[in-house]
Amino acid sequence: MQLDAQIDTIAPEEFRLAMRKVASPVAVITARTGTTRNGLTATAVCSATADPPTLLVCINRGATAEQLITDSGAFAVNFLTEEQANIARLFSTSKLDPEARFAEGHWLAGGTGAPMLANTVASFECRVVQTVPCGTHSIFIGQVTALHSGDGPMLMYRDGYFRRLAAD
Ligand SMILES: Cc1cc2nc3c(=O)[nH]c(=O)nc-3n(C[C@H](O)[C@H](O)[C@H](O)COP(=O)(O)O)c2cc1C
Repeated sequence: MQLDAQIDTIAPEEFRLAMRKVASPVAVITARTGTTRNGLTATAVCSATADPPTLLVCINRGATAEQLITDSGAFAVNFLTEEQANIARLFSTSKLDPEARFAEGHWLAGGTGAPMLANTVASFECRVVQTVPCGTHSIFIGQVTALHSGDGPMLMYRDGYFRRLAAD
């Protein structure tokens, strides 16, 4: 009872301000149907379970890529290096032409067609196994079908800025 009362008092802005303090890895999530490809910058990404290898991503239903993920049943998660910060900017610039987004970096189509970026900290291709509606967002749970990983300083986001996390 008391917990419910407490939940009701948390305003979205108060929640956002607290979450700004939390550093997150930055990923670009991509998808493709036919010749249409797109993606978005996202921090709401995490490993769900290792057996079977599974990730989850939280995507605003207003994001262009949300429909592509729904239609194709697949997505790729590309965790960026610090050197790829400009790619994060391109994929978070509202409704930018997708081909302007993919103009930077070396992109390859994975087995599902979802674009995989080369030279990332780690990239994962996933098939959607479950979709959970959650407020303004869709949570896509994806089983990993392909991956590659590398080195290099990881791109992070905290307090409104992109930041570097050194590899060692
Ligand atoms: C650092 C950062 C993290 C973001 N994380 C998410 C996220 O986890 N989920 C989401 O739906 N949008 C997230 N966004 C917002 C999208 O990247 C942004 O709205 C994008 O323009 C959506 O694609 P569209 O313009 O093609 O619709 C984030 C933006 C930034 C800058």
